[in-house]
Amino acid sequence: DKTAVLNKRHRDDKYVSEFQQFEIEQTRAAQGWTGKSSEQVREDDYELVFDSQAFDWNSDALRRIDPEKQQLEQRLNAAEQKAKSIEDVRKSLPVYQYRDQLLAAIEEHPVIVLIGETGSGKTTQISQFCLEAGLNRGKKIMVTQPRRVAAMSVAARVAEERGEQLGRTVGYRVRFDEKISTSASNPTMLEYVTDGLALQLILSSPSLDEYGILLVDEAHERAINSDILLAIAKDLVKHRPDFKVIVSSATVNAQAFSSYMHDCPIFSVPGRSFKIESFFSSQPEANYLSAAASVIFQIHISQELPGDILVFLTGEEEIVSLAETITETAKKLGGKVPEMIVRPLYASLPASEQQKVFEPTPTKARKVILATNIAETSLTIDGCKYVVDSGYSKENFYEPKTGMESLVVTPISRASAQQRAGRAGRVGPGKCFRLYTRWSFYNELEAEPVPEIQRANVTATVLKLSSLGIRDLLHFDWFSPPSTSAIIKALEDLYSLGALNELGVLTTIGRKMADIPVSPELARVILAADEFGCVEEVLTIVAMLQESGSLWLRPRDKKMYASAAHRRFVSTEGGDFLTLLNVFNAWTESEFDLNWCAENYLQPKVLNRVRDVRDQLVKLCDRVEVPLSSNPSDHVKIRKSFCRGFFAKAARLSRGGDSYRTIHGSNSVFLHPSSVLTEVRPKICVYYELVLTSKEYMRNCFPVDDPQWLLEAAPHAYKKEDLEKLGWDKKMGKTKG
Ligand code: CDP
Ligand code: MG
Repeated sequence: DKTAVLNKRHRDDKYVSEFQQFEIEQTRAAQGWTGKSSEQVREDDYELVFDSQAFDWNSDALRRIDPEKQQLEQRLNAAEQKAKSIEDVRKSLPVYQYRDQLLAAIEEHPVIVLIGETGSGKTTQISQFCLEAGLNRGKKIMVTQPRRVAAMSVAARVAEERGEQLGRTVGYRVRFDEKISTSASNPTMLEYVTDGLALQLILSSPSLDEYGILLVDEAHERAINSDILLAIAKDLVKHRPDFKVIVSSATVNAQAFSSYMHDCPIFSVPGRSFKIESFFSSQPEANYLSAAASVIFQIHISQELPGDILVFLTGEEEIVSLAETITETAKKLGGKVPEMIVRPLYASLPASEQQKVFEPTPTKARKVILATNIAETSLTIDGCKYVVDSGYSKENFYEPKTGMESLVVTPISRASAQQRAGRAGRVGPGKCFRLYTRWSFYNELEAEPVPEIQRANVTATVLKLSSLGIRDLLHFDWFSPPSTSAIIKALEDLYSLGALNELGVLTTIGRKMADIPVSPELARVILAADEFGCVEEVLTIVAMLQESGSLWLRPRDKKMYASAAHRRFVSTEGGDFLTLLNVFNAWTESEFDLNWCAENYLQPKVLNRVRDVRDQLVKLCDRVEVPLSSNPSDHVKIRKSFCRGFFAKAARLSRGGDSYRTIHGSNSVFLHPSSVLTEVRPKICVYYELVLTSKEYMRNCFPVDDPQWLLEAAPHAYKKEDLEKLGWDKKMGKTKG
């Protein structure tokens, strides 16, 4: 089992200390590593294996348009582009050459699949072409994106290209945030929308009457929501002759999309990618982070400038850690090597920091971008000549049997590896250094990524489809079907939550849940809070839970002060949930004061965002007719509201008193070290999420005073005997009597 092996690797927490031992000698030793001949390179522990020519998959299926123009295009380089006006840049993009042919194809066919290299202009240009040519016939154009960062930044770019402010003709909509104009005279015509929000919009307007064109972008990523969008769009074009669908994908494996979408034509825009040499590790790397650090310096020392390095890693934590390490090492090397500018790039990075990635590199320096797979296809960074590929990304995995969901570091697919390598060839010939062996590339990596729908929790999807009136999910026209057990588990869970009745039909509660764009569990909690009369408090906690990751500041030199400050908010009786409520309320009382945040070692940006999210939730409650009740003193009612949604995520303290066991599935889990409950260890607690590091940790928990709460919350999910079996009969008797 590959994931298991990986887990083991990921769980290896040693890398931080290994980093500290990282020796400069290591980088010096490899100075001869130029990739010129395979012999020479092998000496340095790497071997030159092939160039990216080997990957011309499925090319027969494509309708190539004009190979000569492609060669012409390749002569343009980024240095030239920078000096040009925005208009010239637009005209220099590969798609520009095919503007008229593309528009004709869209006009002629209800659906087309569009493929082209990353950076060819699919995301920013096609929608503008349609708008300029009036293909949308007075209706709006929606372009969907799998990530909110991409939706926002691309919308900003397109507005800039049009010389307009964002939120006029061009805008974006992501969950809890939007920049669009709804003015009757000047509405936003071109919307960049996350695919999740697009589905939400379809729920309130199933035939998307306001829209004339839907472009499903980054379809190759196979995100759950974009898969579902394709299924809905496929059906919509049968009923709406004026509706156009464009499926946009970065890889060349477009045949599957075409077959699924009524055998629609494939339009392929020749790319402008230069030759890329790929190198593999000759032996498996025990630790890809230290391997990455070593390779970065090998490149930095041995390869000429200019030439930025793009490193693919899996997540914020390791990006931050590697950034620290290489910055320190670069400092130690001092004037012996050119300046190194280190830039992290991940989804939760503040927008202003993200922008720094795009700043041009000074001539005598080298930029090193440490990114998640966000840089794989959805963001284009010019100037990268070297790609370092860890071979991993973080993916969500769901186990229907236990209902456990976890973010797992997983090997990428060969298609992804090819995309990553491609990022090195935008300015000129490039090199890609893969931190895994050639054997592993061909034998261990899957050809294509596993679609998210086949590994993730589909409860929210099933709820949305039910809300669209789709009942027979086993026979639904899935692009790739989720497993039957995942569908059944989702139906069971929705039944336990009260969203479906015994016949599998959506209930009134279920309909309201579908309209609230948070997880079904949280949506259920908000509706329960309405019954318990504590909506205000629950909304605050829900908003805090979405954002709480980087709330607590613990500067190394002031740990004691920080802990003392944080302790003032702690509610051991109400657990982490009520502690979060206390923080937000105290901040509100301070009138959202910045100094107050500093004094209490709290991240003001996080709190500001929580406030925005909360405001949006308040608006949503208005829409689904949930009045804002408040009952700040009754902690029990607040916790009982959460039990209604999270009853399945309950765990009981083991007899030994060290670990917990989930009540469903009996898996061993632990209180997260950050939890305020670590000292009190309640007998039963409910957790918001599990995070897997060295162990399964429950992050954000609250105590359940009485098992009866779980029974009340979900009489179908828990039987009294089950809870009695856990040794709680005495306690239950007490509360009952
Ligand atoms: O979607 P695709 O990967 O085909 O390309 P795109 O995202 O439309 O980007 C086309 C070009 O627009 C890029 O090569 C960049 O030069 C430019 N662009 C930019 O400068 N800033 C952005 N935020 C997005 C695109
Ligand atoms: Mg794109």
